[in-house]
Amino acid sequence: MTESSETPEVSESQIAVHWREEEYYPPPEKFVAQANANDPAILERFSEDNFPDCFTEYADLLTWDKPWDTVLDTSAAPFWKWFVGGKLNACYNCVDRHAAANPDKTAVIWVPELEDDETLHISYGDLLRQVNEFAALLRDFAGLKAGDRVTLHMPMMPEAVVTMLACARLGVIHSQVFGGFSGNACGTRIADSGSRVLITMDGYYRAGSMGDHKVKADEAVAEAKRQGQDVDKVLVWRRKPGEYQSPTPMVDGRDFFVDEVIGKYAGQDVAPVSLDATDSLFLMYTSGTTGRPKGAQHSIGGYLSYVAGTSKYYQDIHPDDVYWCLADIGWITGHSYIVYGPLALGTTTVIYEGVPNYPDGGRPWRVAEKLGVNIFHTSPTSIRMLRKVAPDEPFKYNYHFKTMTTVGEPIEPEVWRWYYNVVGKGQAAITDTWWQTETGGFLGSTLPGLQPMKPGSCGPGALGIFPVIYDEDGNEVPKGSNKAGNICIRNPWPGIMQTVWGQPERFLDVYYRKYNTDPDSKDWHDWPYFCGDGALQSDDGYFRILGRIDDVINVAGHRLGTKELESAALTVPEVAEAAAVPVIDDIRGRMVEMYVSLKPGFEPGPEMESKVVAAIETEIGKIARPKNVWIVPDMPKTRSGKIMRRVIASVSNFADVGDVTTLANPEIVDGIRQHVQRAKVAKGDMPRELTETELAEIQAFGNE
Ligand code: PRX
Repeated sequence: MTESSETPEVSESQIAVHWREEEYYPPPEKFVAQANANDPAILERFSEDNFPDCFTEYADLLTWDKPWDTVLDTSAAPFWKWFVGGKLNACYNCVDRHAAANPDKTAVIWVPELEDDETLHISYGDLLRQVNEFAALLRDFAGLKAGDRVTLHMPMMPEAVVTMLACARLGVIHSQVFGGFSGNACGTRIADSGSRVLITMDGYYRAGSMGDHKVKADEAVAEAKRQGQDVDKVLVWRRKPGEYQSPTPMVDGRDFFVDEVIGKYAGQDVAPVSLDATDSLFLMYTSGTTGRPKGAQHSIGGYLSYVAGTSKYYQDIHPDDVYWCLADIGWITGHSYIVYGPLALGTTTVIYEGVPNYPDGGRPWRVAEKLGVNIFHTSPTSIRMLRKVAPDEPFKYNYHFKTMTTVGEPIEPEVWRWYYNVVGKGQAAITDTWWQTETGGFLGSTLPGLQPMKPGSCGPGALGIFPVIYDEDGNEVPKGSNKAGNICIRNPWPGIMQTVWGQPERFLDVYYRKYNTDPDSKDWHDWPYFCGDGALQSDDGYFRILGRIDDVINVAGHRLGTKELESAALTVPEVAEAAAVPVIDDIRGRMVEMYVSLKPGFEPGPEMESKVVAAIETEIGKIARPKNVWIVPDMPKTRSGKIMRRVIASVSNFADVGDVTTLANPEIVDGIRQHVQRAKVAKGDMPRELTETELAEIQAFGNE
């Protein structure tokens, strides 16, 4: 498949969407009175007339070693350069300057999953010490220097923060892989980034038990080697220093316990390296249409400015707040809005080790009460789950949120109202923040002190972000037209990734070629950023995000590419063909269903299904575990041999399969439908009635 085929040929743009307008909820008065952004003048400051200089307001939140000469350099469009000529260090901005001003202030509160274990409070002074010592270890023991890449496969532990910041201190580009991803997925990312050091942990608690995480390091190193990348050091933090939790042996000469090595660096200071604003801070891999993951490469100056600014105005972070983001540190949300944004502002950020409903659905509210959390940030999947398991639980606890965020997936208005009325007790402002791994920070959201909330809509473009909806031909879809299209951002912004690591052509193809008419243009107006989401805009300018229009399935806010899932299934030797489709799920938003056909001579059965599930868990991780594996005699295909995913997606969701007469093999569809739907009915796996937009998504899935 060529890279440019990542741009779908058909989108939701032609589909007229009708949905009920929801009522507005005004920002709570008490919140407005203290909000960082409560003067409408801010909207004027960030108007298009003031672009790009408006973003210096964000950059001014940081301490620069040398100020920038140029705010936005478009000379290599669309590879934008922000704050060119400026020098700074991200770790200095997140730690040193706060440690100097206020060393005893708590930077990180770590909450272990087991409720009887001790909660840790790490001050800015302590954090600075730990970061210095680990930076010394990275430099002198692991031999890392500015510009090197290092892969992290760390769970929700404060050591993940220490590791990231120590890298940032040296200018080492960290590439954190989600802890729930498999060893093989980690290995692929090690190879792609060219890391020769892997930093991991022996184990961590999840849903009450300690899993073996170290084993994944061995798998990752083997997979990276298979792909041509040698790893010469694996640094293993121990969940309980001195006590090894994993049954997997350490490899002599390659694996080292951090707690055994770090002693040598006790008390050492490592000067933060002064780096160009346009140097890179980290890579964050995400899925696209082709199998190879994309390493979104984020800058130091632009990215840090953008997350600091949006944390201040959208999360409304003040230094004295206790801020809790329940996302995983291994995703972009964790990077931007657990670590870099909140710490750049010198606030207290809470990290929780485990799953939100352990040991019961009251856990988050107990944590909030105990720690005095006043800003809460989570995903629709967690909200749906907590609402299902313990709908009245929040009322039992005496906490007070001033603002709450949701991120990662569209939130249904009903679920939004539970979040607002029950979790927020009707007193918190909600920001529904729409954005992506690639964008570094928020693209669409209401400003909580100035703009009313509307359930199910993220809101208008964020400050200095000018979205537009285009149809397939590049015509603007007018607001209030009730028509969906491809949402794009007309302008660059400081948080946008610099490129896709090692794949600049893919960066151009996937995000910028679609609506660019002059590839030589150096004018940003000619380069709309193509988000890959379907959306529509109502009369008030608020956007409603419908979901991905490419071959990506958003499971609980995690992007899974169909190609990755299918390649994983194809590692089973008996599998001839595989296709991944989404099924609507009331908790996780979407789940994956796999369709596979077998090579001649092999019989379908539960054993074969389990092999496919196991292959997906090995190649990607448990997060991608399919809800069902359907073994079919053949796939519905076009005459040119492409699998019609929209037909099987419709089958899985009990939707009308539409016109199949143009298929090469229309006769097989009915047999598949009967087999799959009968089995689902027998299992009690019946969907609720789909909404019009869900139906549109399913019936267009794969777009052939
Ligand atoms: O489809 C959109 C959906 O998640 C995608 C980005 O996923 P990822 O890069 O993993 O980043 C997730 C965290 C920012 C988007 O293209 N998405 C994200 N936030 C929202 C959303 N869909 C609707 N509403 C949101 N608030």
